[in-house]
Amino acid sequence: MAVFVTRRIPAEGLRVLSQAGGCRVQQWDSEEPVPRAQLLAGVAGKHGLLCLLSDRIDREVLEAAGPDLKVISTMSVGFDHLALEEIKKRGIRVGYTPDVLTDATAELSVALLLSACRRLPEAVEQVKNGGWTTWKPLWMCGYGLSDSTVGIIGLGRIGQAVARRLKPFGVKKFLYTGSGPKPESGAEFEAEFVPLTRLAEESDFVVVTCALTPATQGMCNKDFFTRMKKTSVFVNTSRGSVVNQEDLYNALAHGQIAAAGLDVTTPEPLPTDHPLLSLKNCVILPHIGSATYATRSTMAVLAANNLLAGLRGEAMPHELLL
Ligand code: NDP
Ligand code: DGY
Repeated sequence: MAVFVTRRIPAEGLRVLSQAGGCRVQQWDSEEPVPRAQLLAGVAGKHGLLCLLSDRIDREVLEAAGPDLKVISTMSVGFDHLALEEIKKRGIRVGYTPDVLTDATAELSVALLLSACRRLPEAVEQVKNGGWTTWKPLWMCGYGLSDSTVGIIGLGRIGQAVARRLKPFGVKKFLYTGSGPKPESGAEFEAEFVPLTRLAEESDFVVVTCALTPATQGMCNKDFFTRMKKTSVFVNTSRGSVVNQEDLYNALAHGQIAAAGLDVTTPEPLPTDHPLLSLKNCVILPHIGSATYATRSTMAVLAANNLLAGLRGEAMPHELLL
């Protein structure tokens, strides 16, 4: 079985593949993404592909791979980079990495929310640049979670894990939205299912943890931000394209909302001269939601095991049902 691995991944994951009998591994052994031409060449004639969210696996890649490609295993829970219709048409199985990164991503979401609402990067900068002259009653104030309403867009694995972590901060009310009410997911937080518009209007904090789909693409737009409170804070740890970034910029720049925290942007990386980076009230991280050593190692091992199981025609630990 010939497989192509599109990046340097944690050693534990590669070890699973190299120790599997009969598995020939070709790898793009670099921290940087595989250039498109090398991806197309690397995948040719392979039976398995282990890829990352930064690899666009579309028809061109599938055609370059040829008819032997049986399994695609992505080292991510998000799968918006995969052309699922084309993959399904070819009978290719897909593995992904849910659950194992939920805690790390929820933790990062809370860290980002607190950084944005309590203005941490701005405050750290003041310490360094001499802006801290004395204790001032009106200086560096932000917004706290006590007695607040938190709206979660996408109360899935990560959304619930975020709510679980925020509840002890004294949140008064949780709202959520999605494709329909999920009483079993919301019960733990007594969360109320509401339309997106009501979530925008009533939340003090909005946390986006949904999947990127045609329905969620550009969902947080001018209308959404205009409905939000001027004192509210917006956090996105899902995918950049759920947000219309120009509309977000305008909302932040004109005081329509108080602050934002983004772990994901469009594009990634965000160009260093992007207008959002000029705003003090916007905290931007480089897509590090799942970036703990342990989580990335577990993701790599799971992605490798998904790949091997698929190649052997066995049940995968986590198969995406197409
Ligand atoms: P889940 O499948 O458990 O949750 C996805 C959620 O998206 C579901 O609750 C679903 O709600 C919701 N959703 C789907 N359509 C809509 C819609 N139209 N409006 C609102 N919500 C909607 O996935 P996870 O929680 O495991 O992961 C979620 C996403 O987080 C991933 O797809 C990925 O993009 C991102 N992610 C980012 C990371 C980072 O590093 N920043 C790390 C890990 C994941 P419903 O069931 O009602 O449709
Ligand atoms: C995912 O898995 O989808 C994240 O974006 C990275 O861990």
